[in-house]
Amino acid sequence: MKVDVLLGLQWGDEGKGKVVDVLTPNYDVIARFQGGPNAGHSLEFNNIKHVLHTIPSGIFHLSSINMIGNGVVIDPVIFAKEIAALRALGIEPTKNLFISKKAHLIIPSHRELDAASEAAKGKGKIGSTLKGIGPTYMDKTGRNGLRVGDTIRADFNDRYNQLRAKHKDILAQYDYEANIEQHEADWFAGLEVIKQFQLIDSEYEINRYRNEGKKILAEGAQGSLLDIDFGSYPFVTSSNTICAGACTGLGLAPSAIGEVYGIFKAYCTRVGSGPFPTELEDEVGQKLRDEGNEYGSTTGRPRRCGWLDLVALKYAVMINGVTALIMTKADVLDTFESIKIATSYKVKGEQTQIMPYEFDAEIEPVYHEFKGWNTSLAEIRSEADFPAELVDYIRFIEKETGVPVKIVSVGPDREATIIRN
Ligand code: GDP
Ligand code: IMO
Ligand code: MG
Repeated sequence: MKVDVLLGLQWGDEGKGKVVDVLTPNYDVIARFQGGPNAGHSLEFNNIKHVLHTIPSGIFHLSSINMIGNGVVIDPVIFAKEIAALRALGIEPTKNLFISKKAHLIIPSHRELDAASEAAKGKGKIGSTLKGIGPTYMDKTGRNGLRVGDTIRADFNDRYNQLRAKHKDILAQYDYEANIEQHEADWFAGLEVIKQFQLIDSEYEINRYRNEGKKILAEGAQGSLLDIDFGSYPFVTSSNTICAGACTGLGLAPSAIGEVYGIFKAYCTRVGSGPFPTELEDEVGQKLRDEGNEYGSTTGRPRRCGWLDLVALKYAVMINGVTALIMTKADVLDTFESIKIATSYKVKGEQTQIMPYEFDAEIEPVYHEFKGWNTSLAEIRSEADFPAELVDYIRFIEKETGVPVKIVSVGPDREATIIRN
């Protein structure tokens, strides 16, 4: 069986958690392949909202197998909190949640390094979620990291102390008051929670599942425009968020990839610093924020808002080999008289459809304007009931990207999802 992948095409928060939860009944296994607790994946059913950071969004379907892949970085403190929240709901995940031994651990000093680095950057800061993501992936590629599988080694504490000492040396170079020790008791307690789970050789397991004919969905975190290689560098995260990340983050051959579901909001948001060509810093942007409740699931920060950017979307479709599009939050545009989509950029007076290398250069979006549908989509459950203006909007995106929009989401709840034929 091929493995399907679902990933974000913008700057994250496209609604991955909600849609993975909706699609889970079609799959046997849901596997996260990169990122860590910088992610906040929300899903809603029975009027209750759940936010997951490390745990795959299939966890609420008790028959699904959930896997945290080697490409993920785990903070035991946050992981333990997520597990406690599930247990409070009567869900016991030890039987259907497995963790790769090769996943890297975020230790308390990684978080301090993240904060120190951001403080030192001042105005040029990345706007990191301060979860220690960058420093942890730096230690991974620098070949200094601690992995989940190391926790059962006799010399684990020595290795931990060594890494912490190295971090302390680096922290001494910053004008930053770090306090590592105060977080350590919680951290080691979290590690004990991790040890309650089956720590696996996930590359073998996932390929075994494939051979057994199990249906697998790989769940991405962040979005393609935050990818370490292809995002708006340096204002990116520290992992490969694109489809190729599912191969390296789970141990899958490129030929194992089946459908690539690319998810995007009907408009655009970004949280943290960095370029955002279609950003609206006016009352229209504020209306998008209000209607879309655009505040971060992980940090609570207000998200920056703007119109859909087709130059960026086509770029993400190309890099990922997207085979099916999923459009979320269409309902947020319900009360807009007119809606815009950027179809090209004007850079130094020249019109282009290419994402410029100097992404921070003056980019002026060129817009195509649509008439709004001015009706509520919230209760719509069938494509036949779509207003004509929404159909025009979707067809335009399909024509420009060359990829069908197979799912449209019109609300945060599981039910508010329309699968198109
Ligand atoms: P993720 O990181 O991609 O999983 O997305 P987040 O959970 O961070 O952010 C998406 C937000 O939009 C969450 O609060 C969801 O509950 C909400 N949401 C998802 N789909 C829809 C939708 O179609 N309409 C509306 N109004 N909200 C949605
Ligand atoms: P989900 O999976 C939105 C952003 C941060 C910052 C940059 C680097 O919920 O879509 P990091 O902490 O990774 O070093 O931050 O990336 N960022 C996200 N933005 N959604 C996310 O995840 C994000 N994860 C990181 O705001 O700009
Ligand atoms: Mg999110």
